Amino acid sequence: MFPAVGVSHLLAVVFLCFLHSSLCVSAKKKVLADLTSNKLTRENDGSFGLWSFHGTAAESHADQTVFTYNADLLSSDGSRHVSIASTLYPWMGLTSDLDPLFQEYLFLQARAAGIDGFLLEWGHMNHSSNTALRQLLRIAKKYGAFTLAINWCDHWLTTELKNKTSGEVVDAFHRNLQYLIDTVFILGPEVVLYHGNHPVIFIFGGGLTSEQFKDLLAKPLRLPPDMTTPIWIGSYLNFASGPALWGEWGGLLNGTFGWAPFIEKPTPANMSEWDYYGTLEDAVQYQRNLSKFGNDCVATGSCVLWCGSASPGFDNRGCAGWGRSLRYLPRRDLQTHRRSTYNAQWEFYIGLASSPDVIIIPTMNDFPEATVILPTGPAMDALHSTAWLSAKWKNISADTTGVSLPASWFSLYRQAIFYQRTPHLNVSHIISALNQTASLINNTLYAEASSSLHIIRKDLQKLASRLKVTNLTFDLPSEGLYPTVKPTTQNGSYVVSKTDGLFLAVEETKAAMLRAANFKGLLRFEYRLQKETFSHLKVYSSTSRQNKPPRKELLVSRYSESGREKEVFVKHGDFAEVCDIMVTSSGAWESAVVALLKVNQAWDHTAEHSSDLYFVADESFLLRNISLEFQVFSVDPS
Ligand SMILES: *[C@@H]1O[C@H](CO)[C@@H](O)[C@H](O)[C@H]1NC(C)=O
Ligand SMILES: *[C@@H]1O[C@H](CO)[C@@H](O)[C@H](O)[C@H]1NC(C)=O
Ligand SMILES: *[C@@H]1O[C@H](CO)[C@@H](O)[C@H](O)[C@H]1NC(C)=O
Ligand SMILES: *[C@@H]1O[C@H](CO)[C@@H](O)[C@H](O)[C@H]1NC(C)=O
Ligand SMILES: *[C@@H]1O[C@H](CO)[C@@H](O)[C@H](O)[C@H]1NC(C)=O
Ligand SMILES: *[C@@H]1O[C@H](CO)[C@@H](O)[C@H](O)[C@H]1NC(C)=O
Ligand SMILES: *[C@@H]1O[C@H](CO)[C@@H](O)[C@H](O)[C@H]1NC(C)=O
Ligand SMILES: *[C@@H]1O[C@H](CO)[C@@H](O)[C@H](O)[C@H]1NC(C)=O
Ligand SMILES: *[C@@H]1O[C@H](CO)[C@@H](O)[C@H](O)[C@H]1NC(C)=O
Ligand SMILES: *[C@@H]1O[C@H](CO)[C@@H](O)[C@H](O)[C@H]1NC(C)=O
Ligand SMILES: *[C@@H]1O[C@H](CO)[C@@H](O)[C@H](O)[C@H]1NC(C)=O
Ligand SMILES: *[C@@H]1O[C@H](CO)[C@@H](O)[C@H](O)[C@H]1NC(C)=O
Repeated sequence: MFPAVGVSHLLAVVFLCFLHSSLCVSAKKKVLADLTSNKLTRENDGSFGLWSFHGTAAESHADQTVFTYNADLLSSDGSRHVSIASTLYPWMGLTSDLDPLFQEYLFLQARAAGIDGFLLEWGHMNHSSNTALRQLLRIAKKYGAFTLAINWCDHWLTTELKNKTSGEVVDAFHRNLQYLIDTVFILGPEVVLYHGNHPVIFIFGGGLTSEQFKDLLAKPLRLPPDMTTPIWIGSYLNFASGPALWGEWGGLLNGTFGWAPFIEKPTPANMSEWDYYGTLEDAVQYQRNLSKFGNDCVATGSCVLWCGSASPGFDNRGCAGWGRSLRYLPRRDLQTHRRSTYNAQWEFYIGLASSPDVIIIPTMNDFPEATVILPTGPAMDALHSTAWLSAKWKNISADTTGVSLPASWFSLYRQAIFYQRTPHLNVSHIISALNQTASLINNTLYAEASSSLHIIRKDLQKLASRLKVTNLTFDLPSEGLYPTVKPTTQNGSYVVSKTDGLFLAVEETKAAMLRAANFKGLLRFEYRLQKETFSHLKVYSSTSRQNKPPRKELLVSRYSESGREKEVFVKHGDFAEVCDIMVTSSGAWESAVVALLKVNQAWDHTAEHSSDLYFVADESFLLRNISLEFQVFSVDPS
């Protein structure tokens, strides 16, 4: 059986290459980085998404099992977020996975690091991951020579279905599968991952049962003439890591893919932050196990393809173990801290005689699980490693000179966009130069891109030096900042509770200044929760921004067995929300510093009770030392 399958497959590839050279692209070695889309920003989405998180690792016996992360909270000077749902801090600051500019940065960063495409974690057609998909397709089409693949997190769709009867589940998956065919795979192998003329779908598992999956495969699909049925590649963890699993699924799937090495060794006493851990050697052993399974499976003809993986590390305290236990895979070996866990997995595949055609990097940007290759400091180790090790794996020459350029490009672009919000300031020549630089980076013209960025940086400095900067501070109460409704006070502090709000307005001449200029703003206050409980303290403002239809989306782990994890809702679309601070401890005074944004806060006194800002809470809070601080930027008329 093996030679027959092997030869016909080979012939098919040769034949297709002859007919259509672009289909040969699928025969080349590819590196795909996994992408998540659940972290947001107030500026882009009216919410921080999963940069904020509150949850308990319910099955954990670690030192700390309850975690509360408030992405709104800033350091005293406003330069850093002090409570984000990740054990790693992003070098680029907090960004929105749904921001087209950030996605363009991700694309350029991937390109410059030798990555050939993204494997996007996707839920269903009505999920925010589908917004990410639509935008990424636009970028892939604009630049070309980049592949998108779908990592179908089937658990996200089953969780959202009401009755979860098999009929309902199979129908919903069938509708979404047809949607992928009609709107994504239709774009062909130049844009999305194909194997021959089969679209490739990665499935993570934990949602569909094997019976339901079988029913799904039996349902007819409308396929265009040059497309044949999709092939399905299941995650090693959920479908192939044991004989019983593969016994159940092997007859339904066409291959398997590696993920962040899943290792569950109980931690020793000196690693009591986690329940389980793995070492660099375990990570390599994981890849060895996977490659043995994958090669055997292809040799016997039950798999069409398998994909290796290389993952930098793991620490799921940022998502509190998705309600379960806490696991750790260090980024470097535990003894000497010299050898990189990520590089060791790449070296394994470089040395492997029968290497797969695809290596997956879990992940590009999953900060809550701390698996990212995105920079967490100026060194950008994982990206440099990706550039030279992926080239070594492909047996092509590596060019690592462009690795740091996309980050500079992105931070300059963000500065330019900030200055663009200054009335009477025209930065379109700078933005246009940045657009051209993106094209240079895409075309690997790194020396030209670097000098172009140098000129842009100088231009932005020149522009900034021509701006008039005025500092404004308003304390409550003062002539500049006052309550619009008589506040409830207690022992000199303001009370905010279910029945008492605190409504504040900025004096009109100062408000007019804010409306007419650009600014960076900070809201400072001290708060104290008066009862031992969990509560949210929120601040809202007036906004002139069209709210997106506000929606709450259920966010669940791609891993879990249904029902075990805490359900996390992420609200987006409310640009009037200044901050949402989750508070768990009572008794002590805490201080808060949060951002006030030109794009969101309007200062037109149209919020409730003619206010500009107001505080609300479900439980009783005391507030004091409330102040606003602005750096106001305007064009100097001289
Ligand atoms: C997506 O939303 C549309 C319109 O609201 C609805 O008709 C469709 O059934 C939804 N699809 C899924 C998979 O939920
Ligand atoms: C982007 O780069 C790829 C490969 O380097 C090239 O094939 C493509 O034409 C470029 N696209 C644009 C718009 O410059
Ligand atoms: C779920 O069950 C209810 C009650 O049996 C029924 O009215 C509804 O149509 C079902 N919904 C779906 C999507 O199957
Ligand atoms: C993929 O697997 C299914 C189920 O085993 C099988 O029917 C199908 O022929 C396979 N596809 C290819 C291209 O081998
Ligand atoms: C924990 O203790 C073991 C010895 O029991 C030691 O080898 C290891 O380096 C320690 N790990 C850490 C993280 O301190
Ligand atoms: C590798 O496979 C062996 C044998 O099945 C198993 O005992 C071991 O736990 C696996 N190691 C890893 C890291 O997956
Ligand atoms: C790598 O490429 C070189 C030429 O570019 C070739 O001579 C060599 O055989 C290749 N090595 C492998 C392992 O394919
Ligand atoms: C900004 O300058 C560009 C030329 O650099 C011009 O085309 C554009 O109209 C100007 N925009 C405004 C709003 O003045
Ligand atoms: C720069 O590129 C963006 C995104 O492609 C586009 O929307 C914008 O119009 C371009 N701006 C200039 C000034 O070229
Ligand atoms: C204005 O505020 C900024 C940021 O807080 C500070 O760096 C600067 O020195 C202040 N300028 C004046 C004139 O006080
Ligand atoms: C009132 O405030 C003062 C000073 O901040 C503090 O010492 C005192 O304990 C407070 N009393 C109550 C009842 O909270
Ligand atoms: C904060 O408020 C308390 C009580 O009203 C006051 O004693 C303290 O000086 C204030 N701190 C600042 C920094 O304004």
